Amino acid sequence: MILSIESSCDDSSIAITSIETKELIYHKKISQELQHSMYGGVVPELAARLHVEALPKILEECKPFFPRLKAIAVTNAPGLAVTLMEGVIMAKALSISLNLPLIAVNHLKGHIYSLFIEKEAILPMSVLLVSGGHTQVIEVNSLNDMNIVAKTIDDSFGESFDKVSKMLELGYPGGPVVQEHALKGDENHYAFPIPLRQSPEIMFSYSGLKNAVRMAIEKEAEITFEVKANICASFQKTAVAHIVQKMKKLFKVNPPKNFAIVGGASANIALRTAMETLCKEYDTTLYLSELKYCSDNAAMIGRVALEQYKNNDFTDVNEIDIQSRVKVL
Ligand code: KG4
Ligand code: ZN
Repeated sequence: MILSIESSCDDSSIAITSIETKELIYHKKISQELQHSMYGGVVPELAARLHVEALPKILEECKPFFPRLKAIAVTNAPGLAVTLMEGVIMAKALSISLNLPLIAVNHLKGHIYSLFIEKEAILPMSVLLVSGGHTQVIEVNSLNDMNIVAKTIDDSFGESFDKVSKMLELGYPGGPVVQEHALKGDENHYAFPIPLRQSPEIMFSYSGLKNAVRMAIEKEAEITFEVKANICASFQKTAVAHIVQKMKKLFKVNPPKNFAIVGGASANIALRTAMETLCKEYDTTLYLSELKYCSDNAAMIGRVALEQYKNNDFTDVNEIDIQSRVKVL
């Protein structure tokens, strides 16, 4: 079995995965959403302190499995440096004390392999990764052969939901609460411009849309529930339309056989529905992670670790580094 640890942002999570069967034997996640909500975003130092409390509590439950472990895996990039550090310190301590090899896992590869938890990988696949830190289209040929074909030039899709939520004082994380309010609003009430609509380039941008939302809020005399709902609905419609428009361009040139949406923001129902329609149009098979595996979790890190274990892709405990940003997968 492999024990995997994830602490790249505000989720403390540990999983245990069977090397032979890929079965997820144990999985627990403690989210810090409530603690960060009053700040309208993740406070890195607070997140790190909360990992220090939560990770050992979860680890305690894993002790009965210790004799059967063959490796320790941990997310080392990308993420918040101070929170990644907590997972990496625990993984190093376990690796040394239990005399087990260490596997350093890329968080984004984790999101991609969240599709294959307890399953065989289906590759090649074209993947749209939408999270709080990333908005990318990745051609995935294998674990070590991935190419980014499009990405955001400023904010990410999930981040834009968090910022709109903060402006409307709806708390953190913004994705689920904005989606919820959008259901009760009129998506045509505000005509927000679709980002990069005239540009032939296939890339994403969310900072302009965020500013358009800010200006609309400033114009309102009173921010009633109805105003919030209408803003959320109009914003979500535009945010999704932007992705779909750029994906259409990509599909036109090279329609993929297999396509997936992963990452925390892949839970967005409007995005899932719109991409489902596009995939049908191009006879593309759409894959989605189970909702419980969309946001950061250790099960997806364990799934990548299985592949790395088979490839003898281990990292020396003295060499493991923490990278808050990685450009190349
Ligand atoms: O992958 P993840 O858990 O953490 C990062 O790697 O960033 O993604 C978290 C992001 C947050 O920005 C959150 O607001 C967004 O995913 N998110 C959503 C939804 N659920 C979570 N965004 C839009 N719609 C949702 N339903
Ligand atoms: Zn993530």
